[in-house]
Amino acid sequence: MPKAPIDVKPDWWRGAVIYQIYPRSFQDSTDSGSGDLAGITRRLDHVASLGVDAIWISPFFTSPLADMGYDVSDFCAVDPSFGTMADFDALLAKAHALGLRVIIDQAFSLSSDQHPWFSESRRSRDNAKSDWYVWADPKPDGSPPNNWLSAFGGPAWEWDGLRRQYYLHNLLIQQPDLNFHNPAVQEAVLEIVRFWLDRGVDGFRLSVCNYYFHDRKLRSNPPHPVDNNRKLPANPYGMQLHLHDKSQPESLGYLKRLRLLLDQYSSRISIGEIIAEERTLEVVSDYTGGGDKLHMSYTFDLLSSDGTPTQIASAIERFEAAVPEGWVCWSLSNHDVPRHLTRWLRPGEDPTRVAKLAATLLMSLRGSICFYQGEELGLEQSEIPFEKMQDPRGIRFWSADEGRDGCRTPMPWEAEAEHAGFSTVEPWLPLDARHAERAVDQQGAPGTVLDHYRRMLAFRKAHPALVTGDIQVLEGSGDLLAFDRIDGTSRLRMVFNTGRDTFVYRLPETARLLALPGFPDVSAETGHLKMPPRSAACCQID
Ligand code: GLC
Repeated sequence: MPKAPIDVKPDWWRGAVIYQIYPRSFQDSTDSGSGDLAGITRRLDHVASLGVDAIWISPFFTSPLADMGYDVSDFCAVDPSFGTMADFDALLAKAHALGLRVIIDQAFSLSSDQHPWFSESRRSRDNAKSDWYVWADPKPDGSPPNNWLSAFGGPAWEWDGLRRQYYLHNLLIQQPDLNFHNPAVQEAVLEIVRFWLDRGVDGFRLSVCNYYFHDRKLRSNPPHPVDNNRKLPANPYGMQLHLHDKSQPESLGYLKRLRLLLDQYSSRISIGEIIAEERTLEVVSDYTGGGDKLHMSYTFDLLSSDGTPTQIASAIERFEAAVPEGWVCWSLSNHDVPRHLTRWLRPGEDPTRVAKLAATLLMSLRGSICFYQGEELGLEQSEIPFEKMQDPRGIRFWSADEGRDGCRTPMPWEAEAEHAGFSTVEPWLPLDARHAERAVDQQGAPGTVLDHYRRMLAFRKAHPALVTGDIQVLEGSGDLLAFDRIDGTSRLRMVFNTGRDTFVYRLPETARLLALPGFPDVSAETGHLKMPPRSAACCQID
């Protein structure tokens, strides 16, 4: 295997491109129907061939899998369904040899209810771990201590008959919240971070990191300002302002401690997932500003967008205005939202073209970029029948919410192989027949989505203005999105036509059209750019 040296620049993460792997659905190596770490190692050449800088692997730690691995019962061990620690070490070694950094995903705000810490904590009110979770007495009428709701539906409090108290779970009942106000919990989490740093991981995606602390006084959340015409949401969580159950000021001090620890190692990073309905960008700014907390935040604006220029321009502008010092990691798709191609596509459109447009836009943004397995193949969202559903959220809210299984289906590797080369047996979620046609072995030739991702990533790398340059939005209305990326004296103008009609875009006379991959039908004449439907262009502005 040729050794690609890892970039030793401490700020390698600024503008880096990260590939997200959902391990259960990447590659099965044990004929179990479910993906595993050895499977990832086997397929790393594919990932490296894209030209990305790093991989983020969703959780593979010991877990009863109530929330598909985001409910951890041992933060320092590999779940047997994913393999062994030796498999992880082999994965890490191969990734590093290929020049890929490895980011692991830890959900520290909570643990599984099967974690030994929780078993001990619930046993009595005075054991050594009694205060490691958020326990509270009922109100005199037996009801929960306040009105907090779970993001997965229903009250955020579950009664425990053994301890005769309620415990807090901002997510599933099987995911009790750790009490970060307790210094011993803070230390225990830092110990876990140290464990993985010593093993050689390059960084952490910190799942819902604004959920670490709750209001110590357990004050109830105020209701969301009522709009009488508003249809009630499928999940009542949307009916409160989440002022007290998350995003508490104590988080900042803790994130600083975490950063100090990361900084004791060379060039290790943190990407915080921030899910905040209120003061979102303020929270992002607080958590990523100052260079002493998170390296970057993972944002949600584009994860629900359908690609209209107004939305994208406003997401960029709002971020630039509200987070002047911080750094963002943009993505269009992940394991929690419907695949963006399905969100962007309109009836009758060519999916390949739309997939290329979306990728070009994503790779042109200021920030780091994260894309999700299968995106490089132009995969669309799968439809999963209720009987096959695995996602607890989807099961609970079916069919008002179709859940998250449709973006978690297995990767198609070889069109003709059984289960498209993912597994030799029935996969844990059905493999979409449309996906098999877009398998990795069917793509790579010029014109394919896969080829486009490789070329576009190379284009981004070759233009420092796209990697770390400033951004200035020029247009964001109708079908036109245009922004400049500026690096010193170099100014690149990115222009996108997201509509169905050709338009002409005026340019400065000296502008020069660059060979942006994917859209050979864009043409330039002095002072004009002719943009066919669903196209992108990049011009050097002198
Ligand atoms: C993170 C994960 C999501 C999970 C949630 C709660 O947001 O991305 O998949 O359900 O944490 O555990």
